[in-house]
Amino acid sequence: MSLPRSVLLIITGSVASYKALELIRLLRAQGVTVTTILSRGGAKFITPLAVSSLTGTKTYDDLFSLTDEVEMGHIELSRVADLVLVAPASADILAKMSAGIADDLATTALLATNKPVIVAPAMNHKMWSHPATERNISQLKADGSRVIQPTEGSMACGEFGVGRMAEPADILQFLSQQSRTGNTPLSGKRAIVTSGPTAEPIDPVRYLGNRSSGKQGHAIAEALAMAGAEVTLISGAVTLPDPQGVTTQHVTDAEAMLTAVNQALPADIFVGAAAVADWRMEKPALQKLKKQKAASRLTLELVPTVDILATISNSKKRPALVIGFAAETDKLLPNARAKRKAKNCDWLLANAVTGGAVFGADTNQITLLSAEGEEAWEQMDKHAVAHRLVEKISGHFAQKLPTRLVKGTRA
Ligand code: PMT
Repeated sequence: MSLPRSVLLIITGSVASYKALELIRLLRAQGVTVTTILSRGGAKFITPLAVSSLTGTKTYDDLFSLTDEVEMGHIELSRVADLVLVAPASADILAKMSAGIADDLATTALLATNKPVIVAPAMNHKMWSHPATERNISQLKADGSRVIQPTEGSMACGEFGVGRMAEPADILQFLSQQSRTGNTPLSGKRAIVTSGPTAEPIDPVRYLGNRSSGKQGHAIAEALAMAGAEVTLISGAVTLPDPQGVTTQHVTDAEAMLTAVNQALPADIFVGAAAVADWRMEKPALQKLKKQKAASRLTLELVPTVDILATISNSKKRPALVIGFAAETDKLLPNARAKRKAKNCDWLLANAVTGGAVFGADTNQITLLSAEGEEAWEQMDKHAVAHRLVEKISGHFAQKLPTRLVKGTRA
């Protein structure tokens, strides 16, 4: 894993502050030097002693400490590392950063730094979706900060929604991606990702659907955008928020999904993560099908839907890299191998969905199939799967650079 050599970690006040300790542990295990600033709010949740025992160095927490200023002034502190990471970043610090307020050590260092700044927000879901926070995030992005999107889940307050800080392992993946080929290994590349289920109408109120939540496809779209790609996400009906930095189009059925993909072409990368229904009613009923008293069964006549992946793989506007998924309940690898060939895609991510596994879950276990071979990844969070895939995609395009340029880049 390629990571910056040193990180200035600013820990602000949040229930997620404890996750910063795990983050420090993971960074240190990779040989990264971690210098920390613990804000007043952060110190209400974790102690400087706990932080220092993991970093092995002093934890800075007071702007006006004369001793600190003699040891290392706040300006020097802001430049000490290769990048500045604010994790967790509370709503308060995001607001102060976007307004340029410098009223304590953390905000002063953030204003003074000349290093890349990355924030990993953590807050209640209502606070995260508040227009004021959305404004602050847009401003921070416009100022050049990178944002690690919070995730969805149960909150400490008992509510449910988007606002949980990304897991430390995902933050590590993000940092790795940032430092591997510079900030944006996929800048200049266009990507299209399909995600979520399609719903094929039976009549005006009923449809054929499946259990896809969109978690995997959305995470891939987001990871591609983080890597600098211009991403269009075509999503079936899901309850997830649209990922930031991605153009999202909402569709319902397979036909509409294909139309949207065609409209988004040309692209360099296509990832078909959507669970597209294989069958649809040839002619959906125009009126709600009535329950006939006498009839004990109803037969629906179905025809195949359009195959989006195969259509894109064989189109004249075929993206340079076409990636599909295979969701299999049995004979995972033989079926996946056959599917990769049948759909003419470059890579295929096989996942076993026996008993409904993977659909809606937070984790996935992937085997990546390509003409070069097969590699089984360990079970991991869907965001980590997305980052692993994006690292592979970035590597693929880096290899395709003219030899002279690759040599020049490495020199
Ligand atoms: O959304 P989550 O809850 O996070 O779950 C993730 C997932 C299980 C949906 C995802 O990881 C996954 O496996 N997506 C593909 C599901 C699927 O439809 O698999 P398939 O084996 O039936 O299809 C193979 C490939 O062809 C897929 O890339 C699919 O998008 C594509 N396809 C299928 C049918 C069709 N008519 N058009 C297609 O493009």
